[in-house]
Amino acid sequence: MAFSPRSSLGPGAPPAEAVGGAASATVPDSAVRFAASSAEAVDAPLVVARGLVKRFGRFSAVDGVDFEITRGECFGFLGPNGAGKTSTMRMISCMSPVSGGTLRVLGMDPATDGTRIRARLGLVPQEDSLDLELTVLDNLIVYARYFDIPRAEARRRAVDLLEFAQLSERAHDRVEPLSGGMRRRLTIARALVSQPDLMILDEPTTGLDPQARHLLWDRLYRLKQQGVTLVVTTHYMEEAEQLCDRLVIMDKGRFAAHGTPRELIDRYSTREVVEMRFATAEEQAAALPLGEMAARLEVLPDRILLYTEDGDAILAEAQRRGCSPVSGFVRRSTLEDVFLRMTGRSLID
Ligand SMILES: Nc1ncnc2c1ncn2[C@@H]1O[C@H](COP(=O)(O)OP(=O)(O)OP(=O)(O)O)[C@@H](O)[C@H]1O
Ligand SMILES: [Mg+2]
Repeated sequence: MAFSPRSSLGPGAPPAEAVGGAASATVPDSAVRFAASSAEAVDAPLVVARGLVKRFGRFSAVDGVDFEITRGECFGFLGPNGAGKTSTMRMISCMSPVSGGTLRVLGMDPATDGTRIRARLGLVPQEDSLDLELTVLDNLIVYARYFDIPRAEARRRAVDLLEFAQLSERAHDRVEPLSGGMRRRLTIARALVSQPDLMILDEPTTGLDPQARHLLWDRLYRLKQQGVTLVVTTHYMEEAEQLCDRLVIMDKGRFAAHGTPRELIDRYSTREVVEMRFATAEEQAAALPLGEMAARLEVLPDRILLYTEDGDAILAEAQRRGCSPVSGFVRRSTLEDVFLRMTGRSLID
């Protein structure tokens, strides 16, 4: 089966605050999916936000951000807890009204076209909202019914999607005993049942072990290859680097930086980073003059980071000066370094 896009809300989806109604999509026809909205140019961005704001009372969780999401790409929102990622996803998903600025999703306005938009979205909310009492297979079939997909077709898609999600062996088990990673894969399979144009995945792999995370990355990568546009939030820099064609680094409701992972690292960091940990504060203080050899020095509570094009030269000099770190090594720059540079803080609290 080609998991071509088109989907929306269904049972267990988080409640809409005040926008649109329950989705009532018709049977998708993947052959015409890109012609779904005649007003929509094929190369038009799927999402356009200008000065987008989400306020809760006087607090701005999303504080005037601009972005465009292009068809076929994986676009990431990388940021720590409370950055405003979910608030942004909920506005795109027409689950939460926009407080300011403009937002267009699939060429439409979430304030007036919420139902039509949601009929073409695949939503993977931050918290799984599966029906624990139903079997794995029935979760997909029941969800498909919300889109008026005929039962036989729903079953066919569900069986294919369980294979894609590597859950076929659990098809007739209830959801309750599934592991977190299996539930996440099932939630993704469920979002695909209506063949969405745009998948919105809010922290798809948070809390999963590395193996489960890699399996999900593989599945998301395949979806992208099949032409599905992905919007992903994460606080894992590695996830953003692996999955995202372009991303924004979000912090306190604003974008600290945007670009491809490579561009961000090239622009805001150096090729290499020397990390050193010391047993005592005195030993660490004695190593700080090494910062003169580096483009930048970061002193964190538990280690120092020296940004440089030549990490080995700094390590050799550290040894020559008699520095004795508990650990000292050279690594490549990552998005974590970009985040630290732009916000002065680490990604993971
Ligand atoms: N319904 C709400 N009412 C009041 N404040 C809210 C509401 N939802 C979110 N916030 C606040 O908005 C800010 C951004 O929250 P949001 O959930 O968008 O962050 P996030 O980037 O998704 O964080 P996390 O990584 O923890 O999921 C936080 O300070 C949060 O407390
Ligand atoms: Mg969130």
